[in-house]
Amino acid sequence: MPIIAPSLLSANFLQLQQDCDMLNSSEAAWWHLDVMDGRFVPNISYGPMIVKFIRSTTKKFCDVHLMIEAPENFVDAFVAAGADQLTVHWEACIHLHRTIQQIKNCGIKAGVAINPHTPVHFLKDIISEVDTVLVMSVNPGFGGQLFLPQTINKVAELRQMITSQQLTTLIEVDGGVNTDNAKQLVAAGADVLVAGNTVFAAADPKAMIAQLRFS
Ligand code: DX5
Ligand code: ZN
Repeated sequence: MPIIAPSLLSANFLQLQQDCDMLNSSEAAWWHLDVMDGRFVPNISYGPMIVKFIRSTTKKFCDVHLMIEAPENFVDAFVAAGADQLTVHWEACIHLHRTIQQIKNCGIKAGVAINPHTPVHFLKDIISEVDTVLVMSVNPGFGGQLFLPQTINKVAELRQMITSQQLTTLIEVDGGVNTDNAKQLVAAGADVLVAGNTVFAAADPKAMIAQLRFS
């Protein structure tokens, strides 16, 4: 069964406590926290302060997705805020290996994310260093976008790479995940499904989390 990681971006910030309580009592094991800087992606979301507030409300795994340029400058701030994992973009890191080591040296998990145009084979020399590979299934920046179906092949290719190197790296899929594509993603090898709109726009978000989990 996949890990479900609801994305805070789609929560209602005017009733955040309610959404936090919902998540805490749900079958979701992770909170997915999207950080955007208006440069790497054409949107701005929130920073370490919000991550710290969320941390204080939950024991769930806080999965922080950094859609920012030069993420190495913010590793310490997000570690101090209580992140359990920091995921940086392959496209945003000139010295990706160094940044991954920097995150792991802080004692938390490290992930690398790839945009839809970035091929899986570009991960060949870094995959053994990361805990998670996040495959973007939309162009990052906004919740509620349409799933790009070629992601399924990328997940399968990644699964093959992980198996052939006998690694335990998790495959996370982010963007447009819903009840139509979740099963195919899990069958292709996905371990973690991020879901924003699908969870928070549902009439019963908790039931939707449970439904996605049985994908
Ligand atoms: C997009 C973010 C996603 C987003 C997913 O840039 O990285 O995590 O919140 O939202 P949905 O599931 O609505 O596509
Ligand atoms: Zn994300």
